[in-house]
Amino acid sequence: MIFPDYRPRRLRRNESFRRMIRETSLSVDHLIYPMFVVFGKGVRRPISSMPGIFQFSIDELIKEAREVLSLHIPAIMLFGIPDKKDDKASGAYDPNGIIQRAMKALKEKVPELIVIGDVCLCEYMSHGHCGIIQGNEVDNDATLELLARTALAQAKAGADMVAPSDMMDGRVAEIRQALDENGFEQIPIMAYSAKYASAFYGPFREAAESAPKFGDRKGYQMDPANFREAIREVTLDVEEGADIIMVKPALPYLDVICRVREEFDLPVAAYHVSGEYAMIKAAAKQGWLDEKKVLMESLLSIRRAGADLILTYFAKQAAVLMKAS
Ligand code: PBG
Repeated sequence: MIFPDYRPRRLRRNESFRRMIRETSLSVDHLIYPMFVVFGKGVRRPISSMPGIFQFSIDELIKEAREVLSLHIPAIMLFGIPDKKDDKASGAYDPNGIIQRAMKALKEKVPELIVIGDVCLCEYMSHGHCGIIQGNEVDNDATLELLARTALAQAKAGADMVAPSDMMDGRVAEIRQALDENGFEQIPIMAYSAKYASAFYGPFREAAESAPKFGDRKGYQMDPANFREAIREVTLDVEEGADIIMVKPALPYLDVICRVREEFDLPVAAYHVSGEYAMIKAAAKQGWLDEKKVLMESLLSIRRAGADLILTYFAKQAAVLMKAS
């Protein structure tokens, strides 16, 4: 059927028709809010490149978590900033480390909110890389044990799910085994499976104080030019026991999200990263874009590409907007 017999505009004529044939939905159920926690009391430190996002001390984190829950957002992703860094990331798996303390407090005070622990070492390493440095490279196999220890420490502190973001080979299997051997076989793993070495992480590194002191992450994170390799990475994580697979960043990699959705039947998450957030905030501040419309369109597009879950710094704002509409 072609024009003039078929006229696609017939079903676009008013909002009621549009609503009936809308193919993609976005709801607060799909959102995960990333948060940053630091030592101290009464701390609510703004991140200059991410307006509206803060580093919170645990007391402030609890207040914020209550607000997140009241907006009906199901989950947060937690990043910790330690007071001391070293060359074996001790703060990441210390039972008294910042993230472990924060998780205990959250599970005690706001138990209904799902707390996901980002499992990575970069925030805790003096050199800012995601693993043990040997020579001038990150040693994959030496790092695995520390990642497993970190995931286990988070599970012991009450994490509802762990999310390895380091991109070491074999880490999902290592973490799965450590969790299972210690009675945490019910804790799911959301693997950052296709995580690219992206310049869109810039603002995050200010927020998490995790920029590498030398070199870059191209030796472990994926080359932005690669598409087929993403499928191999996801396949490995699925075989190693991932429960949710993630693509990161989101908007510049919608093709990857779409393909991963087609190839696998596990839930797919997409991380709408700090740089994607900062760009919208900056343009809106200049008056160049309508922030609310652009943020909702961005999240909807990530869903349309095939993501079930979206990690986004816009989660609170989007939840408020969805409530109002
Ligand atoms: C830690 C980690 C990073 C992000 C999530 N976990 C930074 C990085 O890999 O350098 C980025 C998140 C964002 O930009 O919002 N490895």
